[in-house]
Amino acid sequence: MLKHYLSAADLSRAEAEALLERAAGLKAEFHANGRGAHSGLPLQGKTLALVFEKPSLRTRVAFEAGMTQLGGHGSYLSANDIDMGGRESVPDVARNLSRWVQAIAARVFKHATVETLARHATVPVINALSDREHPCQALADMLTLRERFGQLQGLHLAYVGDGNNVCHSLLLLGASLGVNIAVACPPDYRPDPEILEHAEHLAATSGARITLTAAPEEAVTGAAAVYTDVWTSMGQEHETARRVPVFTPYQVNPALMARADRGAVFLHCLPAHRGEEVTAEVIDGPQSVVFDQAENRLHVQKALILTLLERGAG
Ligand code: CP
Ligand code: NVA
Repeated sequence: MLKHYLSAADLSRAEAEALLERAAGLKAEFHANGRGAHSGLPLQGKTLALVFEKPSLRTRVAFEAGMTQLGGHGSYLSANDIDMGGRESVPDVARNLSRWVQAIAARVFKHATVETLARHATVPVINALSDREHPCQALADMLTLRERFGQLQGLHLAYVGDGNNVCHSLLLLGASLGVNIAVACPPDYRPDPEILEHAEHLAATSGARITLTAAPEEAVTGAAAVYTDVWTSMGQEHETARRVPVFTPYQVNPALMARADRGAVFLHCLPAHRGEEVTAEVIDGPQSVVFDQAENRLHVQKALILTLLERGAG
């Protein structure tokens, strides 16, 4: 039973499939209603605290707008407001928030911070991005692929670039849902071996295949979807100069996309740096589904909150 959502692996395959189905239903209702509120306002009187140590456009607005559309409210707290671990300890932030709100979404530097919040909160805690995972993003990515291809089992997804938080959550959720994932990373920027092992384990059950290479052309050949992310994640800005030459051969450009299937789609969690990890032709071209991914953040995050609050710790 889902109590918190800290990792994409916190959802069983059945729970992930049910959540995607629910998100698709919410999306249909949202558009049928003229992009307004959901009938019955199921979260009336409920508040989601958004504790963010890093900037955000998509995650923050998708949670805030999602709460509004469900009849509830999102309360945003930046690092300047609460200074978790400085002004107040992480356990005390969790204990205080639990007395006022029904759920907490936290964007943090260290993954251990969301784990500490979850340990001390009496309401569900959602990982809104940590240095280890970005599990809300992976849900939106899977919904986007499901919309495009109908089914996820056996789909070939290539991830090209940094073996980072976004890559980790894609590996875990994709493996669980039967997606074949080919990762191409520079040798020093591979995914965490523990995550890879976990993904392999999930893949063994779902029938998915996980492959790891240093060659982007190899990962992308025959792919139905090509995914990349920034070369330097939030918190790693001091490494930019070192990373650029290492990642330059991993740019997703028309030549690389030409090796994928003819109908292949391009994915990126955003924000993107055109001319670095992806060229403008690709991200602004007909194969790009990046704004569908962004929209789908809204629908999966609403489905996630509803699911957690029905079964949750609060
Ligand atoms: N993709 C994503 O999480 O975007 P934000 O950092 O803007 O929330
Ligand atoms: N890997 C990126 C994702 C941003 C949504 C980061 O952590 O900055």
